[in-house]
Amino acid sequence: MSETRILVTGANGQIGNVLTNELRKKFGTYHVLATDIQKNANDPHYEFLDILNAVRMRELIGDFGITQVYHLAAILSAGGEYNPMKTWNVNLNGWISVLEIARELGLDKVFFPSTIAVFGKTTPRELTPQHVPMQPDTIYGVSKVTGELLNHYYFQKYGIDVRSVRYPGIISYQSVPAGGTTDYAVEIFHAAKKGEKYECFLAENTRLPMMYADDAIAGTIQLMDAPVENIKCRMGYNLAAMSFTPGELYAEIKNHYPDFEIEYKPDFRQKIAESWTEVIDDSEARKDWGWNHRFDLKAMVAEMVENV
Ligand code: NAD
Ligand code: SER
Repeated sequence: MSETRILVTGANGQIGNVLTNELRKKFGTYHVLATDIQKNANDPHYEFLDILNAVRMRELIGDFGITQVYHLAAILSAGGEYNPMKTWNVNLNGWISVLEIARELGLDKVFFPSTIAVFGKTTPRELTPQHVPMQPDTIYGVSKVTGELLNHYYFQKYGIDVRSVRYPGIISYQSVPAGGTTDYAVEIFHAAKKGEKYECFLAENTRLPMMYADDAIAGTIQLMDAPVENIKCRMGYNLAAMSFTPGELYAEIKNHYPDFEIEYKPDFRQKIAESWTEVIDDSEARKDWGWNHRFDLKAMVAEMVENV
């Protein structure tokens, strides 16, 4: 078996930043190549890569002897609505290039991050099962459902070992998200820390599935490490930790910052949030490869307050 060498796309993003660090702890800095279209002068093992440049992607994968790709680069739900054509192009053509290169060069494994945005109004909103009708309202959701279908296609046709989860909204202190509908759940901590009133772009009672970044990263690495025979689903595995509303998050943060104030001013992201589900059933991930979360609302807020 070849030595593990990983390429991460979108490594400067909210998840890419944390995941790259964690992968480097496990495999070593020079075994994990960070790539992005945002420059990162401080990263010792970084290359500029626009995922739409398939020739350059193939070159990097060949030159660095890459065996696994974690493909994080994408345009997210809210940002995607400003430019649907670009979102389709980046989110789908980038991914199909990774799959084609995996097929041509015989990569060991590839990872595709899917999302709760694959769900839509035809999906049950409570305890959303793994296999459900998916009719998303955003171009981001449409691109991720199609990405999941490509996972299934490349696995059954070419045997590509593609693994995927549907992340809930991710909460991290290391990096600030941009362009997502769940971003409020990170922004709110920065406002509280600065002693500023927070203007929340979702309504007080909008319940969404969420997860602390440490859990998301641990789950991702656990999925990629799992024996191949345990992976029963090549579309995105449902992955859950907690579900809360902005009102419930605010109340928990207020336990740490008693004077913290919030005002609810829902914008176009409210409609997106309402098209998603509230609570996810992730029992298949728990059964197949032993997924388990560590952080609930209280534990996550305590960590965020300490570290932001
Ligand atoms: P992010 O927006 O923070 O980061 C995306 C990164 O991709 C950015 O650094 C950006 O520069 C890069 N990028 C954009 N276009 C590119 C291109 N053409 N070529 C190369 N890089 C490009 O996103 P994130 O929150 O870190 O999400 C990572 C992945 O996880 C995405 O695929 C997203 O759909 C998925 N996901 C994220 C969340 C979440 O809450 N953060 C939830 C569900 C799924
Ligand atoms: N957190 C992401 C978003 O809001 C979900 O994929 O777009």
